[in-house]
Amino acid sequence: MKLRTLENIDVRGKYVLLRDDFNVQIVDGKITDPFRIQQSMPTINALRNAGARVAICAHRGRPKGQRNMEYTLQPIADYMGIKLIDDCLDKDFMKSMQDGDVVLLENVRFYAGEEKNDPGFAAQLANGFDIFINDAFAVSHRAHASTVGVAEILVSYAGKLLASEIEHLTDVMENPERPLLSIVAGSKVSTKIGVLKALAKLSDTLIIGGALGTTFNYATGAKVGNSLYEADQKETALEILEYAKENNCRVLLPLDKGVAKVFERDAVRTNKNFEQIEDDDVIIDAGVATVERDVAAIRDAKTVIWNGTVGMAEWMPTWSYGSFALANAIAEQTRNGKLTSIVGGGDTVAALEACGVKQDITYVSTGGGAFLEFIEGITLPGIAILEDK
Ligand code: 3PG
Repeated sequence: MKLRTLENIDVRGKYVLLRDDFNVQIVDGKITDPFRIQQSMPTINALRNAGARVAICAHRGRPKGQRNMEYTLQPIADYMGIKLIDDCLDKDFMKSMQDGDVVLLENVRFYAGEEKNDPGFAAQLANGFDIFINDAFAVSHRAHASTVGVAEILVSYAGKLLASEIEHLTDVMENPERPLLSIVAGSKVSTKIGVLKALAKLSDTLIIGGALGTTFNYATGAKVGNSLYEADQKETALEILEYAKENNCRVLLPLDKGVAKVFERDAVRTNKNFEQIEDDDVIIDAGVATVERDVAAIRDAKTVIWNGTVGMAEWMPTWSYGSFALANAIAEQTRNGKLTSIVGGGDTVAALEACGVKQDITYVSTGGGAFLEFIEGITLPGIAILEDK
């Protein structure tokens, strides 16, 4: 895929509408993890240094087309030390802009026209700008006004982060050094069917963990007690296992689990294999034997793709055991030059951060849903429109 990129374009004095993904968690007015913002800085700085007049357009949360100040981008503007323009359609600020100035527009999802990709709304948003740059890989799977609509109106380019995401993810999908191990976990089979199939086709080994893994254990006849799983996905899970077999992909399902009698952070942890699980047991993490086997699979691999934590990684230290063991093993192998590692998804990246190993990973994607759809091979609308045909 060849994209229109920023190389060789002159932006001095031009009004640039830059789409970034600043959909970060904010607790008590503080950004919990500024990763997405930090990854967006190379494009912002390049535009600033080249003398562009930049207005960043972004969203946070799902305010459903209403001006709901719970989702204001003010904490992000404060963090970045730039001005927030209270209304993304108000263009008055442009009059006083100088070359190299950067402002942030208030949450674009405060307007119903955004998610509907309403052409009238897109035209209003684009009005006054010379160029559109999309650097928001993480929201490029949404055909919204600020990802697709404005790109149909303005001359449009891919930003550095978006181009880098595509380059790294395409590379691992097209030329992975083998054996390729994929680890998919998280909560729902229903949201990961496509990616599970794509990775079953691509990978030599596929580890399925977390509550997702529990559904597969249930489908293959194991006792799962009072745990979170999707009974209605049994047939789908069996179909995916069959598909993996047809594609010569070895699937590793959980062997044992860390369980408790209540789904609580402070609950007492017991390690049980599936025969030992009782009706009132709740699975909260991967078990010791599973983790040992999975760490060995990581050590055998040359490439790892990881999405989804295998337990409640944020309930440290009791329930982060499984996810942190995988994070540490992947980081160690990568640090030692034995592994190429690609990690995506908010919870997974947060687990890397919590163990202090994020910097060791070969490539950490900013995408959640977009990462999964890209790996699945779906054409993301926000990217397709930037293709150099
Ligand atoms: C994300 O956080 O994955 C993106 O910003 C997309 O958000 P959405 O799922 O609310 O569209």
